[in-house]
Amino acid sequence: MQERILTGDRVTGKLHLGHYAGSLKNRVELQHQFDTYLILADVQALTTHFEHPELLQGHLRNVALDYLAAGIDPEKATIFVQSLIPEIAELTAYFSMFVTVNSLRHNPTIKSEAKDRGYQEMYYGFLGYPVSQTADITFCKATLVPVGEDQLPVMEQTRKIVRRFNQLYRPVLPEPRALVGDVPRLVGLDGNHKMSKSLGNALPLDSTAGEVKEKMKRAKTDPARIHKNDPGHPEVCPIYSYHQAFRKEGADEIYDSCSKGQIGCAECKQKIAQSINNLLEPMRERRTDYLKHPGRIDEIMIAGTEKARLAAKETMLEVREAMRLNYFKR
Ligand code: TRP
Repeated sequence: MQERILTGDRVTGKLHLGHYAGSLKNRVELQHQFDTYLILADVQALTTHFEHPELLQGHLRNVALDYLAAGIDPEKATIFVQSLIPEIAELTAYFSMFVTVNSLRHNPTIKSEAKDRGYQEMYYGFLGYPVSQTADITFCKATLVPVGEDQLPVMEQTRKIVRRFNQLYRPVLPEPRALVGDVPRLVGLDGNHKMSKSLGNALPLDSTAGEVKEKMKRAKTDPARIHKNDPGHPEVCPIYSYHQAFRKEGADEIYDSCSKGQIGCAECKQKIAQSINNLLEPMRERRTDYLKHPGRIDEIMIAGTEKARLAAKETMLEVREAMRLNYFKR
């Protein structure tokens, strides 16, 4: 039996190059080795986007399509919708009884996300998302969770919750481990430390070849470099970090020629735009194919959700038994 992986995304919009580098690429590789579950976290998206639930349907399809275009094989991976697994909500309720408010308030991921969003006060659902994320992972007994580095404190809390559950009732839930990829977080096109749709500095995975070139042209570079022959500082240049992420073979050469002022920013940007387009081209083809049969995307989500639901029901029998909630079992 293959070990089970669970990971996924809040469905708050299309995925971008940062998602690809930070996790999607890894998942496409992992699906061949592991029983892969991908959660379309619509409930978690509501923790910050509850004012516009009507946008979820579109986001859901976009993210599913981004997965498929990136090379997730629906025969290998189970893509499912969080809100359609009521057992996740049930588990969340049970876990929430023994998680303290303080431990959530002091969780570094929660703190930094609340700060980024300028939250003065914390919503109950948002504050508690590490609890529901624990349910996302444990409902199907996943043991490995590929996540970005920023999610590590949430994973620590998940492991604590699982240990506590097992100790309080009966050891029925495996303690999952985080799996962090080797690619550092991608910086934004504006040089901000984080590529993010809400910061407006992202390159969506469905960009056309022309859009990639245009966005690269306008991307920030080393601010100290004014003339083409000025020596550059690749270590602070967003474009160089893209070379490292997507053009590994040529990155050393770029470092060298940029530092010596031998290559201009325009040429350097053309090179990386070309590599990114080479990467995106097969995704564009798969995307176009799927868009010819959009019903297929829904079918994949429905089939994945049905499969995930079966796992959920099995786990809940054990959970309810462990908690002695199986009142009328004969
Ligand atoms: N919080 C994760 C993120 O923002 C998304 C997510 C939701 C997730 N449920 C999950 C990740 C379960 C791993 C496992 O990236």
